[in-house]
Amino acid sequence: MAHLPDDNKRYKEVDYWNERYTTEHSYDWLGGFPKFQHLLEQHVKKEDSILMLGCGNSSLSGDMYSAGYHSIANVDYSSKCIETMSARHSDCPGMTWHEMDISRLSFPDASFDVVLEKATLDAILVEEKSPWEMSPQSASFLHKSLTEISRCLKAGGRFVSITFVSPLLRKRLYACREYDWSIRKYSYGEGFEYFVYVMTKGEELGPEDAALQEKRPQDHKPSDLFVHSETAEEFLCNIHL
Ligand SMILES: C[S@@+](CC[C@H](N)C(=O)[O-])C[C@H]1O[C@@H](n2cnc3c(N)ncnc32)[C@H](O)[C@@H]1O
Repeated sequence: MAHLPDDNKRYKEVDYWNERYTTEHSYDWLGGFPKFQHLLEQHVKKEDSILMLGCGNSSLSGDMYSAGYHSIANVDYSSKCIETMSARHSDCPGMTWHEMDISRLSFPDASFDVVLEKATLDAILVEEKSPWEMSPQSASFLHKSLTEISRCLKAGGRFVSITFVSPLLRKRLYACREYDWSIRKYSYGEGFEYFVYVMTKGEELGPEDAALQEKRPQDHKPSDLFVHSETAEEFLCNIHL
């Protein structure tokens, strides 16, 4: 509880994360690697070059390294995080650490087989009620970030997004022809369900996902949105207990 912010909007601020990482050693949002390892193994090969977005002080990169994934570039905009995590993993050749914003990636086009994020977009979008009521600032940030992710992926590469947000609300953020990828959805967790979305670069969106692009906000009942708010609150309580 010591790291709970007084306001959810603090999850978007780099100062919050820098402060938190001065005292918190390690924390895994949405569970650790063993919980979803079986799903990652279907889409990520040991020899793949992996970009980890918003790595935080999570054990995910270290655990993946131990499992044989040896090419992992880790990005976070918190300088404290990058300083601590690079020192912690100095004995892992092939693992690199970069202080960088996910909406301005300084990697060349088509440089990764896999881009992975866990709870990073959740933290950035935490204040948004739904995809239909997103602030222009968040919508623009998200579009820039997804465009950057798509640019950095090789043809056939995968963007893996691990989140607590259900398909009703998250899929439409990823369903866009401009990003040039298909979407697959998986889930894990007992009691509380988490989702793994796998976007494959160069594949076409399925018809249902393509249709999401054209659907307008008023096509959805307000009750759909109510379900989401409750889920988000429950998540925010659970992860800090
Ligand atoms: C909720 S934590 C998730 C940490 C880790 N991925 C995990 O699963 O435990 C979000 C992380 O994203 C980072 N972050 C937030 N916004 C970012 C941005 N715009 N660019 C880069 N990193 C960002 C934060 O510093 C924080 O480490």
